[in-house]
Amino acid sequence: MIKSTRILVWDLPTRTFHWLLALSFAGAWLTADYERWRDVHVLLGYTVLGLIAFRLLWGLVGTRYARFTSFALAPRAVFDYLKSLATFKPRHYLGHNPAGSWAILALLALLATTAATGWAAYAEIGPEWLEELHEGAANATLALVLVHIAAVFASSLLHRENLVGAMLSGYKSGPGAAAAGTRWFAALLLVGAVGALWTGLIPAPGLQPGAALTSLAVKGKPALADSRQQRHAEHDDD
Ligand code: HEM
Repeated sequence: MIKSTRILVWDLPTRTFHWLLALSFAGAWLTADYERWRDVHVLLGYTVLGLIAFRLLWGLVGTRYARFTSFALAPRAVFDYLKSLATFKPRHYLGHNPAGSWAILALLALLATTAATGWAAYAEIGPEWLEELHEGAANATLALVLVHIAAVFASSLLHRENLVGAMLSGYKSGPGAAAAGTRWFAALLLVGAVGALWTGLIPAPGLQPGAALTSLAVKGKPALADSRQQRHAEHDDD
């Protein structure tokens, strides 16, 4: 009989990255339409870009299950996994399952596209349709995030395993090799870098240091933001 034990699967930097990313995306979505929270929205976009850069690096040098080489990306593995889903007894993976592995890469690509086009539109670099692309990419990201959350809960039920708890504690049950270490230092560096960005120690292009935090403290109903085309039209009228 194979012995099932508690295994550290998600190291601390991966978990810190995940919840900072979830918070940043939610915040960027909620602040997108308001003029007063424009700085917050832009800074959240920079935060997302920084988090993705960190995750790409961590996918190369991180612990076992954080590495991209541990992602089950082979088409055969995806096909077999999806087929096994139909039996309601899908194969159990300690790290990301094949469908999840692809979904994560798609999420990272969509988030990077959303943040990069948002930055270009904000800096007024490139054609005006970048703003449309930014909105389209943001909507596609939201759709995939909702699928991601639904899949996490469905998978938790199918495997009788608390995946959300695992993304918080890092531990899963099963036979297999541990992730090899918490990696406190990398997690601290990540939190420190995000803190430095928000306090202005790391400069954010086009933003006054600390202005985003100050705008969060202002009370009263926020006004809706103008689109780039509207801003141009008003500028031409002057
Ligand atoms: C309440 C909301 C959310 C919950 C409960 C949740 C839960 C989870 C869980 C349990 C995993 C691990 C899946 C597995 O075992 O293979 C995961 C991975 C992931 N989630 Fe979420 N998630 C949430 C929101 C988000 C959002 C908003 C984003 C992106 C904007 C996101 C992006 C990711 C990514 C990129 C991974 C891969 C982690 C890595 O390997 O670095 N999640 N999520």
